[in-house]
Amino acid sequence: MACKSNEALQAMVEEARNWTTKGKVADYIPALGLANPDDLSIAIHYPNGDCFSAGNIEKKFTLQSISKVISLAFVLMERGKEYVFERVGMEPTGDPFNSIAKLETMAVAKPLNPMINAGALMVTHMIEGDSVAERFNRLLAFIQGLSADSKVSFSKEVAQSEYETAHLNRSLCYFLKEHGLIEEEIEPLIDLYTKQCAIEMNCLDLARIGIVFAMDGVDPESGKQLMPSEVARICKTFMVTCGMYNASGEFAIKIGIPAKSGVSGGIMGAVPGKFGIGIFGPALDDIGNSIAGIKLLELLSKRYRLSMF
Ligand code: DON
Repeated sequence: MACKSNEALQAMVEEARNWTTKGKVADYIPALGLANPDDLSIAIHYPNGDCFSAGNIEKKFTLQSISKVISLAFVLMERGKEYVFERVGMEPTGDPFNSIAKLETMAVAKPLNPMINAGALMVTHMIEGDSVAERFNRLLAFIQGLSADSKVSFSKEVAQSEYETAHLNRSLCYFLKEHGLIEEEIEPLIDLYTKQCAIEMNCLDLARIGIVFAMDGVDPESGKQLMPSEVARICKTFMVTCGMYNASGEFAIKIGIPAKSGVSGGIMGAVPGKFGIGIFGPALDDIGNSIAGIKLLELLSKRYRLSMF
């Protein structure tokens, strides 16, 4: 797909890039620590196929938590919403993404929402299949379809690096297993989850996925319904209420679009009925969101009045 470099976007990227020095790349997953903190790029994909960009949009990064919204769409399609929401809630937490606190203090140990790690691990647990490879390949095929890119794959290095260090995620899983919510062995689940988080693509692919959510599940090129509109609606709602973790309220006020971030520095935006956005900027703020990516979205939202509210 051809994506045109755009001057107005380029100017906004240069302005937002000033913020990268105030952030830090994630290094709790050691392989992510190798990213260049100065990187910042954006692609915007319109339903008619137009695409505008700025920065090095070919650079690949791993989805990390952005994958949580896609795995949620996948299990909602596979299992139905009653099954899914019996096992994971719909409420924001106000806690960091990897917090264990609410699991113990809530009456039922069920994770509060699918965007925090505990909830995302529950969702990955629900992906059907006889082996990790089968479950992963089915999710990957869905993601290849959404991005219209059959070459999308995962980074073995990042998956392995997270697998070796995912002690907190293992703790969340064991807690959920103790309470009967997770019913499988934990190591294969962590293997599947870390591969899911290590699915790798560039801003163009991410913007292309964003537009499917923005268009209520319809592929803008083929006109095919890639997910039911209700599934796209549920996912966009979670993106607004929990997509930027415990900064989601401020993000809704300042920017006002459904968006999902990941600790690699990616942000996927879905502006309802308008366009999909893919951003990569690996320097993160204290909460774990791309610091310059958020600034860039703020500039964009003000200039083009994107807020839904
Ligand atoms: O589970 C983890 O910690 C990572 N694989 C994903 C976390 C993440 O991206 C949080 N986002 N800001």
